[in-house]
Amino acid sequence: MSNQSQVLRVSLIGAGEAGTCHLKSLLQLPDKFRVVCVVDDHPSEESQTLIQGFDHIEHVAQAEIDRGIEMCDAVAIAIPTSMHEELIVTSLLAGKHVFCEKPLVLTLDAVRRVYKLADEHNLKLLCAMTRRFDQPTQQIKKHIESGSVGQIYNISMTSRDNPYPKVEYLMNKPGIYSETGIHNVDMAIWLMKDTPTVVYAQGHCFNPVVAPYPRSDDNVTVVMKFPSGAITTIEISRYSTCGYEQRIKVYGDKNTVASDSVPKDQFHQFNSGQVVQNGPCEDFQSRYAEAFTEEWRHFFKCVREGDDILVTEDEVASVVLTLDAINYSRQIGLPVEVDYSKSTFAAKNPDS
Ligand SMILES: NC(=O)c1ccc[n+]([C@@H]2O[C@H](COP(=O)([O-])OP(=O)(O)OC[C@H]3O[C@@H](n4cnc5c(N)ncnc54)[C@H](O)[C@@H]3O)[C@@H](O)[C@H]2O)c1
Repeated sequence: MSNQSQVLRVSLIGAGEAGTCHLKSLLQLPDKFRVVCVVDDHPSEESQTLIQGFDHIEHVAQAEIDRGIEMCDAVAIAIPTSMHEELIVTSLLAGKHVFCEKPLVLTLDAVRRVYKLADEHNLKLLCAMTRRFDQPTQQIKKHIESGSVGQIYNISMTSRDNPYPKVEYLMNKPGIYSETGIHNVDMAIWLMKDTPTVVYAQGHCFNPVVAPYPRSDDNVTVVMKFPSGAITTIEISRYSTCGYEQRIKVYGDKNTVASDSVPKDQFHQFNSGQVVQNGPCEDFQSRYAEAFTEEWRHFFKCVREGDDILVTEDEVASVVLTLDAINYSRQIGLPVEVDYSKSTFAAKNPDS
C-alpha cells in the first residue's frame, strides 16, 4: 500500500488540450500523485476550474517556472513541442523525473542528448506515447508477443482526427505526419519490434485557408515496408463525418487482431431486430482518457518501483528518423529507403 512519502509531487507545465487530460488523470490517482502546481499563463477553462477546486494546486506564472519546477519530484511537460527540449534539460538538471508529451523532441541529436542527460542523473524520462497505453492496443501487443497472430502480413491503421483544429493552432506545428502520424509510426514500430526500411507518403490539404502554409496536408496516407515483408498502411485525416475514428488491424497467418472504433460509452444493446449503441467519441480527450491515466500509473511504477520505461530511447530515435523520411517522401513524391544503422535516408533506387 502506498504511503505519503511514496506519493510523487508533480508540477504540470502547460495546461492546454493535452495538459488538461494529464491534470484530470493525475487527480484520479491521489494515492500516487499530488499535483503541487500548474505553470501556464493561459490554462484551459477546464484546468482553471480544477486548479481552483484543489487547495494543494498552486497556479504559478510562467515567469516563475523555476520555482514551479523546484517544488516537485517530477515535471509533466505539455507545452508546444518546440519548447520541449529546453524544459526537459532544465528539469533534469534540477534533479526531477520527466514525463513529456510527444513529440519528445524533433531531431535525432536532441533525442540522444536528453536521454544521455537523464541517464547521467539517474532520472526517468518518459516520452508519453499515449496510444500504447490504450487497453485494446495493449491486447493487440500481447497477442503478437504470445505468437497467436503468427507471421504478420499487414497492419492497417486509421486515425480520423476529429474535430479540425483551429487554424492558429496549426501554425508553427511540425505537420500532420510528425504531430499525429507519430502515434501510428510509434505503434507500428512497437508492434513489429522492428523498423521499416521503405516509407512512402502522399497527402493533400483540402482546407484553402491552411493550404498555402508549409506542412499543411490534412488528409494523408503513409505506407511502410518492414524487413520481414510486412506492410503497414496508415490513413490519417483531419476530416471525419463519423466521429473520432481510430482503428488498428493486424493480419497474421494464424489470426487477425483488431482495435475498432468504439461507441462513446463502449456499450452495445442487442435484440433480435436491432443493435443499439451510443454515438462515437468526439475527440482524443474522450477516446483516450483511460489511456492517459494508465500512462501515469506506468510512470509511477517506473519511478517508485524501478520498472523499465515502456517507450525506449531507441524507439523514440527510430520514430524521429522514420518521420523525417516520411516527410521527405511526401516532399519528393517518391518512396524513401531508411538506414537506421547510419541514421540516413534517401530516395529509393527504382532498381533495388
Ligand atoms: N498524447 C496526445 O494524444 C496529445 C494530444 C494533443 C497534444 N499533444 C502534445 O502536447 C503538447 C501540447 O499540445 P496541446 O495540444 O496541449 O497544445 P495547447 O496549445 O492546447 O496547450 C499548450 C499550453 O501550453 C501553454 N504554454 C505555452 N508556453 C508555455 C510556457 N513557456 N510555460 C508554461 N505554459 C506554456 C499555453 O498557454 C497552452 O495552454 C504538444 O507537444 C503536442 O504534440 C499530445
